[in-house]
Amino acid sequence: MEKVRFGYVGCGFMAQAVHIPNFASIPDCEFVALAEVRSDIRERVADRYHIPKRYAHHLEMAQDPDIDAVGISAGYAAQGEMAIDFLKAGKHVFVEKPMATTVEAAKRILEAERAGGARLMVAYMKRYDSGNIIARDTIREFRKSGELGRITYIRTHGFCGDWLGGIDTPVEKSSEPKAPSPVVVPEWLPEKWYRPYLEFLQQYTHNINLVRWLVDAGDDAKVRVADLDDNGVWGTTIMEVAGVRTVMESGLVSHHSWDEHTQVYFEHGWVLTSSPSLLLKNVTASVEVYRNKPTPATVHPAPSPAWTWSYKNEAVHFIEKIKSGEPFDSTAEDTFTDVRLYEEIYKDFLTRRGEL
Ligand SMILES: NC(=O)c1ccc[n+]([C@@H]2O[C@H](COP(=O)([O-])OP(=O)(O)OC[C@H]3O[C@@H](n4cnc5c(N)ncnc54)[C@H](O)[C@@H]3O)[C@@H](O)[C@H]2O)c1
Repeated sequence: MEKVRFGYVGCGFMAQAVHIPNFASIPDCEFVALAEVRSDIRERVADRYHIPKRYAHHLEMAQDPDIDAVGISAGYAAQGEMAIDFLKAGKHVFVEKPMATTVEAAKRILEAERAGGARLMVAYMKRYDSGNIIARDTIREFRKSGELGRITYIRTHGFCGDWLGGIDTPVEKSSEPKAPSPVVVPEWLPEKWYRPYLEFLQQYTHNINLVRWLVDAGDDAKVRVADLDDNGVWGTTIMEVAGVRTVMESGLVSHHSWDEHTQVYFEHGWVLTSSPSLLLKNVTASVEVYRNKPTPATVHPAPSPAWTWSYKNEAVHFIEKIKSGEPFDSTAEDTFTDVRLYEEIYKDFLTRRGEL
């Protein structure tokens, strides 16, 4: 395969501000088609990026034999259902997080992937942040050498703030209504919790996904206690990830930048990674490594090249791995664990409140 023939579904904010320009700038990606139900922005965005084929619905694009792979960003539940249609048509899929909002939907996506022969990558951009890659590799080295002892505690904190980071990529506005996106939640969830459940998972899926990856936990993760406020989003969730107590702090602070960090403690030191404002281009997570042995020292390792953007890196990764056939770093199968954990967290939270 010389170039990957690529199509994108949706001209929403993430599509226009981030993914479409990123994929359009990759030399090995031939941007063949754009699907969007809103005709005005479909045409303007396709013109802007010189995308030749235009479709009014993703199902039309799924039938196009000239397309090898697609990107999708839409409503939380809609995008996973579209992914199934493309996987069944044999197209590789790059889909925004969350892949699914219920375990039942996640299982159907995995089945479609297994049946169709194409592969799905979930766009967890934090795994493609060069700062986070340094943090993950450093943790791996310390675990292998044992020089800082065992991992004793993990804390992941996300109080959010301004995620836009001053992004100024042009975004076309539409006078037409967006295609409706269904609300899909677990069948056991009481209706008053639909909105908080989705709000919680859409944000903290990033933290859960990053923590598991930082310590190579795979599916070795479970919930101990979910202590959330009445709003169902803010609070403290205690999990066990790779056998280690992992505390997730969810909340909100008025902040001009972005208040999020994850810290992995060893007996004799730590690795701390702090996130930039999410859409801030070409700024990576900053990493601090503290060790008390053999002499106390703190270092701040920086990636090389220094200035890269996690969202661009994930798009490049998708295209490269399709070409090479190697696995993605954020597969559908791996993400299944995140979806299982959202349901476990909310079940624990509502059971403690006596509402389940
Ligand atoms: N990774 C991150 O940091 C991050 C940040 C924000 C949002 N997100 C995710 O991005 C997603 C939202 O992406 P967005 O802003 O691009 O979406 P959006 O909802 O603004 O737009 C989706 C577009 O898809 C179109 N569409 C829907 N169904 C279609 C169909 N069947 N065929 C053709 N077009 C169709 C709609 O008309 C709409 O224009 C969410 O899932 C969210 O979780 C991720």
